[in-house]
Amino acid sequence: MVTKAVIPAAGLGTRFLPATKATPKEMLPVVDRPAIQYVVEEAVAAGLTDVLMITGRSKRALEDHFDRAVELELALEAKGDPARLAAVRETNEMAQVHYVRQGDPKGLGHAVLVAAGHVGHEPFAVLLGDDLIDPRDPLLSTMVEVQQREGGSVVALMEVPHEAISLYGCAAVEGAGDVVRIHGLVEKPPVDEAPSDLAVIGRYVLSPTVFDVLRRTPPGRGGEIQLTDALATLIATEPVHGVVFRGRRYDTGDRLDYLKAVVRLASERDDLGPELLAWLREWLPQQP
Ligand code: G1P
Repeated sequence: MVTKAVIPAAGLGTRFLPATKATPKEMLPVVDRPAIQYVVEEAVAAGLTDVLMITGRSKRALEDHFDRAVELELALEAKGDPARLAAVRETNEMAQVHYVRQGDPKGLGHAVLVAAGHVGHEPFAVLLGDDLIDPRDPLLSTMVEVQQREGGSVVALMEVPHEAISLYGCAAVEGAGDVVRIHGLVEKPPVDEAPSDLAVIGRYVLSPTVFDVLRRTPPGRGGEIQLTDALATLIATEPVHGVVFRGRRYDTGDRLDYLKAVVRLASERDDLGPELLAWLREWLPQQP
């Protein structure tokens, strides 16, 4: 059974400074919800209601967001605003959220290793907050099914333009189709050395044996302990499968992609979309 989700959220968010000087990047709003809330909702939708966030300094706002906000609730109750009251309550009822600090920022692999004590001996999911997956295109629940059927570990893959592959972990795979066996993984390879155009996107369902491997994994690309390197080692002893995602993914990791994500998601909302699209249609032709 997979019941636990680990969400690394200790990054400094340097690409969004100065917005992220005092606010965690995970709290930047995507339309009207902080980015991290979409990720927790995705975990919950896949049946994972035990969420462990790996945080660091200046991340208190994350804890406050998933906690009760008694004063705010009382104020909304007094005002008679049940819709907003429900929205405020929802975030602390949706999951059991736990927190542990990473301490030294030694990379994604290290962040996952910090979860070892909480996770124990069951397979578990890892969700990276920079990737948002559209709830209409389920991915994590499929990955959990594949892990239960095949054992070992499962990573989410997505075909990306060839020249973009060096921004991602890259998988060498056997077979075609929606579920593939992975026989090689390399973190951010130069374009001309990439074994495929299949990028690792930030969803994993991992065997707990990954922790032993992570303890032995030396720093890799960027001097950081890389989860990709640990998974590449794991392939020698356990199956690692890829679920090829062909749905809608929104990148919130840098400013331009973040803006695109906000516009795309807002355009599709019943309450905001029609007016936003009408304005965009009027405004765009006026631009040089
Ligand atoms: C991380 C992983 C990388 C993966 C990417 C997905 O990189 O190390 O393998 O492809 O997330 O978003 P980051 O984007 O944090 O540098």
